[in-house]
Amino acid sequence: MKSYVRKTYGGPEVLELTELSTPVPKPNEVLIQIKSASINPADWRILRADPFLIRAGHGLLKPKFSHLGSDVSGIVVSLGTSATKWKVGDEVVSDIMGSGMGAYGEYVAVPEDILVRKPSNVSFDEAAAVPIAGLTAYQGLLKYGKLEKGQNVLINGASGGVGTYAVQIAKHIGANVTAICSAKNEEFVLALGADKVIAYDKEDYRITTTQFDLIMDNVGNCSVKDAKSMLKPKGIALLVGWGGFGHMLRFMSQGAIASKTSGRTFMGIAAKLDTADLEALMELLSSQAIRSVIDKSFPMDDLTKAIILQEKGRTKGKIVVHN
Ligand SMILES: NC(=O)c1ccc[n+]([C@@H]2O[C@H](COP(=O)([O-])OP(=O)(O)OC[C@H]3O[C@@H](n4cnc5c(N)ncnc54)[C@H](OP(=O)(O)O)[C@@H]3O)[C@@H](O)[C@H]2O)c1
Repeated sequence: MKSYVRKTYGGPEVLELTELSTPVPKPNEVLIQIKSASINPADWRILRADPFLIRAGHGLLKPKFSHLGSDVSGIVVSLGTSATKWKVGDEVVSDIMGSGMGAYGEYVAVPEDILVRKPSNVSFDEAAAVPIAGLTAYQGLLKYGKLEKGQNVLINGASGGVGTYAVQIAKHIGANVTAICSAKNEEFVLALGADKVIAYDKEDYRITTTQFDLIMDNVGNCSVKDAKSMLKPKGIALLVGWGGFGHMLRFMSQGAIASKTSGRTFMGIAAKLDTADLEALMELLSSQAIRSVIDKSFPMDDLTKAIILQEKGRTKGKIVVHN
């Protein structure tokens, strides 16, 4: 089978499309024929080891893991000897970040219990777009942010992968959504359901007079001081996006103090694969309560072009690759 591998850290050009033997699933695994995979900012960050600290988990001098690619959808084509949950032909989706990655290729063997059924009325591209970005939006808003109907939420970075799901999920549960995006994406984000848009390149979002129950910062540029001034007395501010070490350290340290003294909560979050949450997201897609916005779908052979585009940081929704 064909699969992308890399031997060194570097840009997308270090990825090599290589002929490997098709994996044989271990007893608890199933083999998936990959139909689609989606790109996340984590891909180019892991590829380049940027920030450098990534090397602590991925290998100091060279990468310990040769494969890349976490968000995957495909078809079960064979079963490990003790795998019972799926049958050949089932259409599935998951985030395989914690299972060795390898979404950029033709086949991957993964533990059967990390998979979720892809609804038949959701395409492989639309399903593969969901896992990391969708779970981050879902868990950020509902689990960490405890967002409820009628509450006010501010979503920064509303036009990207996480943001497009967050705007739609927040609207679906009946929240009042203020979204921050650039002027060129205003109409697009309003069409996703935002009640109000603040264009960050036309005005300073801190001038808003709305008081929020939840601020979800998918960019990583909202300080604790600014978040505090925009939050209601018991509001929650979530740092989701990577705005650099300096911002993260300031947010976490000042946020820890402000969480103790202000009645508000400030936290950084890391979304995790939870199959119940991913099932809930698939149900939202299947019932058309939300949709995956696909900015561009590339053939798998053009993976490097897809990652180069993702790295520009201007994606509207998600970039996917397909076989
Ligand atoms: N904590 C977690 O568990 C977790 C999980 C997933 C992702 N993340 C992080 O979350 C961030 C967002 O991820 P993503 O997948 O949504 O990325 P993405 O799709 O690459 O985000 C691109 C979007 O960001 C917008 N943007 C860029 N600068 C902006 C600014 N100053 N203000 C508002 N919007 C801006 C861009 O719109 P314009 O072109 O209009 O500027 C573009 O639509 C990344 O840093 C990622 O690493 C964290």
